Amino acid sequence: MIYVDNNATTPMAVEVAEALSQAYQSAFLNPASQHQAGQKARRRLDDTRESILNLVGGEITRFASDRLVFTSGGTEANNLALFGLGGDIPGQVVISAVEHPSIREAAEHLAKLGQSMEVLPVDSAGVVQIDALRQALAQPTRLVSVMLGNNETGVLQPTAEIAQICRENGVPLHVDAVQAVGKIPVNFRELGASAMTITPHKFHGPRGIGALILDDRVKLNPAMFGGAQQLAMRPGTESVELAIGFEVALRLAIEHQAEAEPRMRELRDRLEMLLGELIGPENITINGLDAPRLPHTSNVSFSGIDRQALVMSLDMAAVACSTGSACASGSSEPSPTLLASGADPSIISSSIRLSLSRFTTQAEVDEVASRIFNCINRLRRS
Ligand SMILES: Cc1ncc(COP(=O)(O)O)c(C=O)c1O
Repeated sequence: MIYVDNNATTPMAVEVAEALSQAYQSAFLNPASQHQAGQKARRRLDDTRESILNLVGGEITRFASDRLVFTSGGTEANNLALFGLGGDIPGQVVISAVEHPSIREAAEHLAKLGQSMEVLPVDSAGVVQIDALRQALAQPTRLVSVMLGNNETGVLQPTAEIAQICRENGVPLHVDAVQAVGKIPVNFRELGASAMTITPHKFHGPRGIGALILDDRVKLNPAMFGGAQQLAMRPGTESVELAIGFEVALRLAIEHQAEAEPRMRELRDRLEMLLGELIGPENITINGLDAPRLPHTSNVSFSGIDRQALVMSLDMAAVACSTGSACASGSSEPSPTLLASGADPSIISSSIRLSLSRFTTQAEVDEVASRIFNCINRLRRS
């Protein structure tokens, strides 16, 4: 099987699997236990948390102490941010129209509970319209949440500009950086956000863990209760093992990032070029091509082809890809990102997502292009 669905999740790096296996044999303890062994696990967890924070550019100095709250993954961190960030500041929650369902549906739930919500429109490439943000912030606002890189198209948002505007208005900004970390340089402090979501299963780490990173000022109200762990912001027994796997995966991703980013970009561009050559440039549309994109994501529409039929046909041809967000897979919901970008229904119904990783090879990319070509020919004949 050729795996080009890395935005759903990634295969675990060997080093991470080894670190996890070692940790499961030696670090099984509950870090909240009072005995010495438990306290040793607590120190290991605290060291790991600090190391992750340092790796993503958090600041832990005498003057500032950013924080990291471990969660079960990106969805939980995003929910925690939407429900709890900004503490008790009254006001609306502002999100973009292309957020992951874990932001969009959390915001919709808040709206049902009576909070007001504002959705920022995007342009045809899927980039947030900055003027709309300025207008939205004329109203009292508790929180703005905008993603860094889109999970369906890879399109990057102008987060530096957004952070600047939020700062000028004294409104905390949360950035969902789930698809960006490990693919492009991400530095929490340079980003200028108050909070950021990451999860290691998108960069060859374990599933079942994620983190919400918080600057030293922003207040987080808990969404769960019943324990003092993580300053009671997210109670529950922490997994020292998964935290260790998280840290190793992040360190590796950052170590490899400088050489992996141009290589993935080259392979992604090669894949798009080959598809154009084989299928005819007039028969394909690369969604988000006009905007800066993450290096590993390609969202391609094949004229006259049903996306669901193509993904199934590719599955039979041993190519694993998707029609969009994994959270929507199995359903035939149209892509929220393409819908928000105002894409033509014919584009939306014929687009699939191909996502690479630092382990993807040129031979795999060439083979994927050829199998897509064959599948499309077969679908056209039938
Ligand atoms: C941009 C983005 N945010 C959040 C999530 C949710 O992360 P998780 O699958 O770890 O819950 C995903 C997962 O695909 C994502 O792509």
